[in-house]
Amino acid sequence: MKRRIEIAEVLKNPTLNESILVKGWVRAFRNNRFIALNDGSTINNIQVVMDLEKFPEELIKEIGFHACLSITGKLVESQGAGQAMEIIAEEIEVLGATNLETYPLQPKAQSMEFLREKAHLRMRTNTFSAVFRIRHAVAYAVNKYFNDKGYYYMHTPIITGSDAEGAGEMFHVTSFETNKAPLDEEGAVDYKKDFFGKATNLTVSGQLQAEIAALALGKVYTFGPTFRAEKSNTSRHLAEFWMIEPEVAFADIHDDMDLAEDFSKYLINYILDNYPDDLKVLDDRIAKLEKNMKKEERRPMGLIETLRFVVDNDFERITYTEAVNILRNSKPYKKGRFEYDVEWGKDLQSEHERWLVEKKFQKPVIVVDYPKDIKAFYMRMNEDEKTVAAMDVLFPGIGEVIGGSQREERLDYLQKRMAEMDIHEEELWWYTELRKFGGCPHAGFGMGFERMVLFITGMTNIRDVIPFPRTPGSAEF
Ligand code: 4AD
Ligand code: MG
Repeated sequence: MKRRIEIAEVLKNPTLNESILVKGWVRAFRNNRFIALNDGSTINNIQVVMDLEKFPEELIKEIGFHACLSITGKLVESQGAGQAMEIIAEEIEVLGATNLETYPLQPKAQSMEFLREKAHLRMRTNTFSAVFRIRHAVAYAVNKYFNDKGYYYMHTPIITGSDAEGAGEMFHVTSFETNKAPLDEEGAVDYKKDFFGKATNLTVSGQLQAEIAALALGKVYTFGPTFRAEKSNTSRHLAEFWMIEPEVAFADIHDDMDLAEDFSKYLINYILDNYPDDLKVLDDRIAKLEKNMKKEERRPMGLIETLRFVVDNDFERITYTEAVNILRNSKPYKKGRFEYDVEWGKDLQSEHERWLVEKKFQKPVIVVDYPKDIKAFYMRMNEDEKTVAAMDVLFPGIGEVIGGSQREERLDYLQKRMAEMDIHEEELWWYTELRKFGGCPHAGFGMGFERMVLFITGMTNIRDVIPFPRTPGSAEF
């Protein structure tokens, strides 16, 4: 039996004039003669040439779009343009036939919305295979970056009893049957009788536990799934997404911003250096889509050019107060073109963030020192007692990709904020103990993994960079 060779290996180290065995899915079948075969090991296909006389008609009929084949043949220099080598088929076995009349996908451009409904098949397309190879590579680069810098990967829990962000957007975890939950004297569900003896939920962030680890191991990060039951049906929100959260002892907000910028650039550089072919396919796809658009609807730069620009330039850093002043003096504000008002103390809306990033500075922007009332309880109070040492990193085309802060390490300040925000110390006793015993200044952030992958791949909907998106009203697959 011949050993199968992956197509990436065939293309990298071709053994010309030898007979080889490859397996994969048909990306294209031209003139009943030329098969473009892909096995996922690379974005590039290998061309297989069939001598029609050699193969029975029944077999040729089974070779539809995305059919799965096992092919033995001689690897030779290609006669045609477009590829350096090709396989002259000697034996073809159909492992899984497809029939274009019933196969849900067609060999032509299909809408992202349609392909989302076919999430079990969409990874076989060029675009999605490139996206998911890059997604893998970004995850690898995350772990490599932190490992190389001496951070420890900390697995924080998925089931927790706390709401780290205090936003109340949680999915509850219970082993009660929904209509048979025992009630307490007041008629409320008696979670003391539940599996964990208390009310629990899926985590919205691993930060609070990462802080525990940072105050012992110095530099740590978590990278895991997080869940938010927010009803935001936008192209930037998922109910289940992955978050990367470094937490660093002895770091302040400036160190935190430096880390966020360096880390973001590292991830982008990693993909530029290691996945040029996949990036090119995605870049070409955007150029093709934008060909018939008006200039103002097109992106200012191509995908690869944008990524290069971001790694080659410093991120802009401004305070929230400066951002508000810049926005209030902006043309769209004065002409009433923003839907939402800009007022000190209010959260910046995505239209404001995108104007700052895409029109004003045309590069990623870090906004720091937000009003305390629009941010979480754990953020460190600044000297003005009005703002906290919080920062958001905003990216072109997306908006917020990273949110972080220096943490409040002073017990009295923390307790005051918790009381003001109605967060009970009994529930977070361990969190306040970190301030009572051996505490220190520390800082960290959370990067939305899918938002970063969205930026790097140039895709426009977050549902298209996670294999199986969970959004309001949708949990198929
Ligand atoms: O800004 P967020 O809510 O910050 C935290 O959760 C902090 N505890 C992080 C920390 O300091 N360790 O979320 C962090 C990032 C956001 O900037 C955004 O990129 C992403 O997570 N994010 C989402 N991504 C997809 N879908 C959603 N519903 C998201 N909500 C937040
Ligand atoms: Mg945020």
